[in-house]
Amino acid sequence: MSSHLPALNDWVASVAKLTQPDAIHWCDGSDAENARLVELMLANGDLIKLNGQTHPNCYLHRSNPQDVARVEHLTFVCTRDPADAGPNNNWMDPAEAHAQMDALYAGCMRGRTMYVVPYCMGPIDSPLSRCGVEITDSPYVVANMRIMTRMGAQALARIEREGSFVKGLHSIGELDPNRRFIMHFPEELSIQSYGSGYGGNALLGKKCHALRIASWQARQEGWLAEHMLIVGIENPRGEIHYVAAAFPSACGKTNLAMLIPPEGYRRAGWKVWTVGDDICWMRPGADGRLYAINPEAGFFGVAPGTSEKTNPNAMAMLNRDAIFTNVGVTADGQPWWEGMSSGAPAKDWQGRDYDSARGPAAHPNARFTVSARQCPSYTDKAEDPQGVPISAIVFGGRRASLVPLVLEARDWTHGVLVGASMASETTAAATGAVGVVRRDSMAMKPFAGYNFGDYFAHWLSFDRPGMKLPKIFQVNWFRKDTDGRFMWPGFGDNLRVLEWMLKRVTGQAGAVETPVGNLPRPEDINTEGLDIAPAALAELLAVDREGWKAEMEAIAEYLNEFGDRTPAALKAERDRIAAGLG
Ligand code: GTP
Ligand code: MN
Ligand code: MN
Repeated sequence: MSSHLPALNDWVASVAKLTQPDAIHWCDGSDAENARLVELMLANGDLIKLNGQTHPNCYLHRSNPQDVARVEHLTFVCTRDPADAGPNNNWMDPAEAHAQMDALYAGCMRGRTMYVVPYCMGPIDSPLSRCGVEITDSPYVVANMRIMTRMGAQALARIEREGSFVKGLHSIGELDPNRRFIMHFPEELSIQSYGSGYGGNALLGKKCHALRIASWQARQEGWLAEHMLIVGIENPRGEIHYVAAAFPSACGKTNLAMLIPPEGYRRAGWKVWTVGDDICWMRPGADGRLYAINPEAGFFGVAPGTSEKTNPNAMAMLNRDAIFTNVGVTADGQPWWEGMSSGAPAKDWQGRDYDSARGPAAHPNARFTVSARQCPSYTDKAEDPQGVPISAIVFGGRRASLVPLVLEARDWTHGVLVGASMASETTAAATGAVGVVRRDSMAMKPFAGYNFGDYFAHWLSFDRPGMKLPKIFQVNWFRKDTDGRFMWPGFGDNLRVLEWMLKRVTGQAGAVETPVGNLPRPEDINTEGLDIAPAALAELLAVDREGWKAEMEAIAEYLNEFGDRTPAALKAERDRIAAGLG
């Protein structure tokens, strides 16, 4: 088989010449094709069948133990001018990167099948969607791409119509961490990944295309590609407001996207609708509002900590047609991870008999892959080609101290500064130390495909006549008390904070103005049925002036890292806040 697009056929032929696969398979995305791939993976050990009674069509994949997360130190943005990649990215000269990758790819698919995977990021008929083709030698990647994107014949038809697509080449290689690179060539709209089978490194439609390459395209074309969930909040009057929220990896996007309202809210008629849990593409509509689509078709979520208590919607979608990566298993073949309220692990994520002395049963970055349509709160609006209008943008991270539960930015420029100066404690979603506070602008530190200075300027450029921009907020669900316990109950109760935000959007809630932003008074947050001490809530909503002064100094230093690419307006905004703090 081949396509009607010579550019695609030529590229596939040139990759085959380089990598020397035994066979080439063009993926059509059909059920029959998937069934054949599953059979193949069950036979070669890539997949293990889970309990068919409790979890029909569910499979476990155990990755190489050295290949369990994104590898930021091996991820590069290769632009002609290093300044275009910026200090926020690792950079390599494109010619050098190509030479290095060609050497790795030479003959790497001998004895393997090369899969050609056409995919569409976003609803197949949406003008906001973009297409790509991933070539891979991993059937596990194909099976995941089928869930995570609109993959196969329809995507190929759109690519043939449009004539252009993002080229992604992936090989698991030898899965050797010393022979592993994730390369991006935004000027060529291409991605090359070698030596890893892990989601963020190998499912090229996701972080590589939908964030790094798309953010580059978005800047040129006047839209935004962001590491954000999209959620609809329906109030008892039936009005739905859509919120987009950027939190760094493993900081609560999937949880917030599938939030279940607290009992009192449910009775009153509040509903929560899931549009997306990781990536958001937004562009101005004719009415000046930002309209967003979720470019993905599935969820690649963190398993540990997901339970009937924290995320019942996720639990309800995980009992059929799902792929689990690096979770533990019970004696009767059910998936198991830390935080589950029942069951017990018999095997750990590496397939050894479970022994608590060897650490958790599931890897802390164990993941599930499942179609979005299986989520009980998934809304048809997520399939709307026009996208959903965004009423509020939220930035948040893990900050044990200083950052209050919620604050509202005074205006767009202040909001962009709030996003740009975001910081968060690192998590297991990327290899490296966990729990270190680092700046992570808009939760895009690992994902912006170009210089953050230019990225901040692009964000500011949306503030222009005719635009009706969303309000911007900052949240922190992760404040800790002196005993190291979370002060805010979080999860479903986060709706209490969202309610305040949306009432600010519609002018129905009060706030106190402070130099760092507008904060609710404790009485502005609905605490009915909430178990929290008044003193704790007051502390969560207090502004520590001395702490913020030090923070503002650190932010000044950070903004200077991007030199003259940092917009003057952003520095001026920071100066105003610092001056206000005295
Ligand atoms: P990626 O998919 O890697 O981009 O991460 P994510 O932002 O989707 O993270 P996710 O929702 O999977 O949350 C990861 C961790 O945060 C889990 O351990 C959750 O239990 C925890 N978490 C989520 N929401 C809350 C909250 O409101 N409070 C507290 N304390 N923990 C939370
Ligand atoms: Mn993510
Ligand atoms: Mn997630």
